[in-house]
Amino acid sequence: MQDFKLRVFRYDPEKDEQHHYDTFTVTYREGMTVLEALLWVFENKDGSLAFRYSCREAICGSCAMYISGRYALACRVQVKSALEGDTVTVSPLPHMRVIKDLVVDQTKLWENYARVKPWLINDEPAGDRERLQSPEDRAKYNKEIDCILCGACYSSCPSAANNEEYLGPHALNWANRFFMDSRDTAKRERLEIVASEYGVFRCHTIFNCVEACPKHLNPTEAIQNLKRAAMAYKLGLRK
Ligand code: F3S
Ligand code: FES
Repeated sequence: MQDFKLRVFRYDPEKDEQHHYDTFTVTYREGMTVLEALLWVFENKDGSLAFRYSCREAICGSCAMYISGRYALACRVQVKSALEGDTVTVSPLPHMRVIKDLVVDQTKLWENYARVKPWLINDEPAGDRERLQSPEDRAKYNKEIDCILCGACYSSCPSAANNEEYLGPHALNWANRFFMDSRDTAKRERLEIVASEYGVFRCHTIFNCVEACPKHLNPTEAIQNLKRAAMAYKLGLRK
């Protein structure tokens, strides 16, 4: 394989009334990722192309995009596996406002994340050492903690697209991470948040978030866990 086509979503709010796609012929290199292809275009063909990236190793979550019909991290996906014929098509995360080209507005994503208080809450004195946790208790949020907050699940969720106040699968994933933490003492406060009008009961178990997650996590499972706890709390079965 030598050359392939990279078809890229373009939109510049200062110039364009509507988006369009530009197609670039890219010289293939064995093992090339989609992010490397975008960088190649940026350096060799069009320095105005806008996209986010940072770590280049599937850790920071910056490069989440919609690549040949799938949610993916551009730094992780190899060109070879994203080809449709001789073309890779790259679009911004759907249902999010495009700022420029592949860069979307993440304001609501981060605001909703902050609403679940994604930090350990424990005002009891820790003494002279760290708060200990057994391996069994630590394992209770093993999956949730691998989330890199790339926004793919949020972008894929119809409930979030329908109502941006819905906390969304990313935030609820983190709500469950701290809810399940044996060291956290704010269980009731957390249940108040997730059982609120825009919390877990807005999730209709559509599972798009599971399909979209590039880290193969299961936000739906986390939400179901919170739903059970929130329901028991609302019914007075749990303090
Ligand atoms: Fe949305 Fe996932 Fe629920 S796609 S509706 S958060 S199962
Ligand atoms: Fe960090 Fe892709 S650049 S996840």
